[in-house]
Amino acid sequence: AELLLLNGPNLAQLGRRRPEIYGTTTLAGIEEMVREAVPGHTVRAVQDECEGALVRAVHAAGDCAGAIVNPGALMMAGWSLRDALESFPAPWIEVHLSNVWAREEFRHHSVLSPPASGVIAGLGADGYRVAALALLARIEG
Ligand code: DQA
Repeated sequence: AELLLLNGPNLAQLGRRRPEIYGTTTLAGIEEMVREAVPGHTVRAVQDECEGALVRAVHAAGDCAGAIVNPGALMMAGWSLRDALESFPAPWIEVHLSNVWAREEFRHHSVLSPPASGVIAGLGADGYRVAALALLARIEG
């Protein structure tokens, strides 16, 4: 099956962006980790700084069997991404590298979470791997 791996604004800077919070793994490293976690499946990796591009990627992924979404700061007010994901036909998992509840209060609420199958936060890059395995379990039953 094909899985969508969606990363929002500022996540292309991973590796050099606040490594004490987000770790030293680059986005390319994360994409490779996810691919290795789901052998035999295809991963469609999309990163964009713009919410509209992410919305388009969700629309275009209607044929995907699941999605992993790190929305970055769009977690706080990305309502059009929320609407797009609400209509996404397959299971999807929200991932945050950092433990958002241990940080500033404005990161404590995600408008995306209600339609998600689950939310993973605080496990760093491992969170993506966990999300990939959880999606596989849902897809393969
Ligand atoms: C993040 C957490 C968000 O609050 C922040 O805006 C990000 C990254 C994370 O992966 O921990 O850009 O989604």
